Amino acid sequence: MKQENDLCDIGFIGLGVMGKNLVLNLADNGHNIAAFDLNNEKIDEVIAQDIEEQMSIDKNNCKKRVYGCSSYTQLLSQLKTPHLIVLSVPAGSPVDQVCENLIGAGIQPDDIVIDTGNSLWVDTVAREKKYKANFILFSSAVSGGEEGARFGPALMPSGSPYAWSRIKPIWESIAAKVDSTTGKPLERTKPGEIISEGEPCTAYIGPAGAGHYVKMVHNGIEYADMQIICEAYHVLRTGLSLSPDEIADIFEKWNLGPLDSYLMEISVDVLRHKISDGTPLVDVILDKAGQKGTGLWTAMSSLEVGCPAPTISQAVYARSISSFKELRLQASYQLAGPETQTFTEAEKQTFIEQLHDAIYCSKICAYAQGFQLMKLAGKEHGWTLDFSSIAKIWRAGCIIRAAFLQSISDAFERNEALENLMLDEFFSNQISERQLNWRKGVAQITLLGIPCGALSASLAYYDSMRCDVLPANLLQAQRDYFGAHTFERIDEAESKKYHVEWSTQEREMIAIKTVNKLT
Ligand code: 6PG
Repeated sequence: MKQENDLCDIGFIGLGVMGKNLVLNLADNGHNIAAFDLNNEKIDEVIAQDIEEQMSIDKNNCKKRVYGCSSYTQLLSQLKTPHLIVLSVPAGSPVDQVCENLIGAGIQPDDIVIDTGNSLWVDTVAREKKYKANFILFSSAVSGGEEGARFGPALMPSGSPYAWSRIKPIWESIAAKVDSTTGKPLERTKPGEIISEGEPCTAYIGPAGAGHYVKMVHNGIEYADMQIICEAYHVLRTGLSLSPDEIADIFEKWNLGPLDSYLMEISVDVLRHKISDGTPLVDVILDKAGQKGTGLWTAMSSLEVGCPAPTISQAVYARSISSFKELRLQASYQLAGPETQTFTEAEKQTFIEQLHDAIYCSKICAYAQGFQLMKLAGKEHGWTLDFSSIAKIWRAGCIIRAAFLQSISDAFERNEALENLMLDEFFSNQISERQLNWRKGVAQITLLGIPCGALSASLAYYDSMRCDVLPANLLQAQRDYFGAHTFERIDEAESKKYHVEWSTQEREMIAIKTVNKLT
């Protein structure tokens, strides 16, 4: 039996890729871990890796920092009280399974369990209530993949403020850090390296569910961002017949300007990668996209909340369409497209510039949609979300980290009531300067017959949002015609509803409720 001061600070359950790296990150930052996984090999692996990494730094200064546990009961017995337990298990029933096992092992009501997975936010709200009598369920989604988990992720914590007061110093220690004057990420790339200065990419998001909602929207934006880059790649590869290396050169150049982002950076790396015979790897990867569901959840939520998010939805559709590989193959022989086109060198350069601007403007639209969605959902669920702070959290560590997140944070700092990012002066100017190129780019891509759902849906979103009159007047009349659904008039108070008796000869217009006959 360990003495109180020998006990571990944190219990950790689930040692998959994310779990293992979070454990090593926590250990580097001075926290002792009692680790458990259903697979014993994973426990041995993380313990061995922790020792190995310490040896590689200084073989005379190695400490045991990760302790393996063979059961939930043993895990609880190894921890300081009240227990702090981190879960890194797949979203859905595995989370409940672990929670039930912890109850079986004797977890106490003042113990804290942190779910770091991509749980569906409504599940988190339900779980917090369900397990209230047994323990405090806290959630903190993690973004940044394997690398982020190891050297500094973005963390989106939400739930009990008391639990947050305990978790905060630990989370701030392991999170990615940003230079407070430049807003740029402070790089941490080696085991044993610790960054204690800078602003940590974590901040309390709100009550249970809010953090997972924000992470879900992060992932929705991630889908959109990825799809936008993929559409640009598609145009350059098939429309301009550029090689992956040539496209990597273009992306690399773009990454020095406003498109500077992690996703652009990794795309360059991917495009340059060759297999043993020299073929670019990307050319041999099957074009069927996978998805675990967070992008779909964002699109579904946008429909439920009534907040347009077409760039995000298109990104989900693009993955779905990609999965119909055989049907697409068949259709490629049967369905007509335009003639192929050739371009002069000068035309190519112009098109590439248009493509750059189309990406940038579409990216602004994707973020505008994501932030507006969080705003409307926050209103609906009573969460007071701090959008400047959320944008700050995303400046480093996470998958959508990008230079322009600082500008997004500044926009919400200037106006915390900002309804849509495109209406911030900085962003409206950015789009104004580029919108003509965006249009020309999308038009040219369309003439080539290359799908660009995310780029063109973004443009339609932009044009719809800036349209003072939409054809919804005719739509309202159609609804009234077949379903007596009524309409409002521009020359009367909005609350007044009208209906036309379409079936009668006279087609009288009736003001509903007051039932005034109008001439
Ligand atoms: C992150 C990622 C991470 C994961 C996605 C991938 O922020 O670190 O978003 O959560 O990579 O779940 O999702 P898909 O499998 O749906 O692409």
